[in-house]
Amino acid sequence: MKIGIMGTGYVGLVHGAVLSSYGFPVTCMDVDAAKIERLADGISPIYEPGLDELLASGLRDGTLSFTTNAKQAIQSSDVIFIAVGTPAKEDGSANLSYVQEVVQSIGKYANDYKVVVCKSTMPVGTNRGIARYLDGVLKARNAPFRIDVASNPEFLRQGKAVGDSRHPSRIVIGTENEEAKLRLQSLYDVHIRQDVPFLYTNPETAEMIKYASNSFLAVKISFVNELALLSEKVGANIQDIAAGMGLDDRISLHFLQAGPGYGGSCFPKDTQALIDVGRKNGEELYVVRAAIAANEKQKLKMVHKINDVLSFNGTLKGKTIAVWGLSFKPETDDIRSAPSYDIISGLLGRGAAVKAYCPQGMKQAERLWTDLNGSVAYCENEADCAQNADAIVLMTEWEQFRENSWDTIVKSMRGNAFFDLRNMFAGHAHVRRLFDYYPIGSNELA
Ligand code: UGA
Repeated sequence: MKIGIMGTGYVGLVHGAVLSSYGFPVTCMDVDAAKIERLADGISPIYEPGLDELLASGLRDGTLSFTTNAKQAIQSSDVIFIAVGTPAKEDGSANLSYVQEVVQSIGKYANDYKVVVCKSTMPVGTNRGIARYLDGVLKARNAPFRIDVASNPEFLRQGKAVGDSRHPSRIVIGTENEEAKLRLQSLYDVHIRQDVPFLYTNPETAEMIKYASNSFLAVKISFVNELALLSEKVGANIQDIAAGMGLDDRISLHFLQAGPGYGGSCFPKDTQALIDVGRKNGEELYVVRAAIAANEKQKLKMVHKINDVLSFNGTLKGKTIAVWGLSFKPETDDIRSAPSYDIISGLLGRGAAVKAYCPQGMKQAERLWTDLNGSVAYCENEADCAQNADAIVLMTEWEQFRENSWDTIVKSMRGNAFFDLRNMFAGHAHVRRLFDYYPIGSNELA
């Protein structure tokens, strides 16, 4: 079975590379010629652990190829995955223009039976709309073949995308078409053998499962973040609360880590898109709306927390703050909707000078946060970043931050405040003693 992947974002690229490692011939197509040229040389546009190796072996074995030619990718494939972005529009609804372009190309160039699989996160009803559109185009072309459509949402996490793709938590297939189902089953035979749960349903349900999963996780994080704020006021400890709640497996400990707010290319966009689906169907989704509002509040509260400790006469003028970690989570260079942006902007707005270091996110920050260029000093490493600073703000929990010569760092600083917005050092007695340590969700002293 030959596979075409339309869109080489992190979902398409990782999925394509992993399928090619199972021996399927995979053609990845993207309209971005520079990106395709680099990918054909084995250079990944994203930082994702394990991906470079997969690209190298796919290219070497000839199972993976890259093209900008949509016609060739479509005609040479039996199964075509749509993995282009569905970013949020101003009003929160999903922008489906990239999906439309791909679907139009499929309608135009398909030359025999194909199964089109929607991997991109799409609003409810999109899969059925695509099927209807393709039926109409093929009829108009008098084409002697069909195209079937299936929804197969992706649940992989950035930073762990290769592992998640190889060992998915579940595979959801939304289609009413038997042939589409069979093709996907043989494509995912390796997962059938791994006993990964498969869920077969209709396209609308599959589309909803994706939005529901991401929105539920966002709700969980916002819930724990609000409790963290309250815990600081009442003398409770959010990590112990989470541990106590998580022991109930109906709740589970996952996604109960308090932090500076969720970010990334998925939760902020998908929660908004689900609300938009609700609005269009006359249903107000109060819980999801509250999760979004709490997430905005959380970022603001982080600025207040830092300001309350460091400010003089209500301003941070004359203070230098060292921000550790810019990416929205560790092991990725992705800074989309990262809480670091809002928090840094808030600190700058109060007059602070900001230095920043991130193991992977700085290039993207310089490229995309042009409004911060000139205001933020990007540094070589975390120790360099902390030098002469009044405070460290740990924004993203990169593992490398654990190993540092803390005595040297604190000596090189002007002040010794440490805002640990991920509770990474909550159990680290030495760090807690050395710094004025401010965890999140507790005000226990060292
Ligand atoms: C998320 C989902 O977890 C994936 O299942 C889904 O496939 C993906 O979106 C997607 O739709 O493509 P991802 O955005 O890579 O994955 O990141 P997560 O690991 O879910 O983290 C999202 C945000 O929540 C991060 O900013 C993270 O720091 C924050 N978070 C997560 C917390 O603040 N606390 C937690 O306990 C967990």
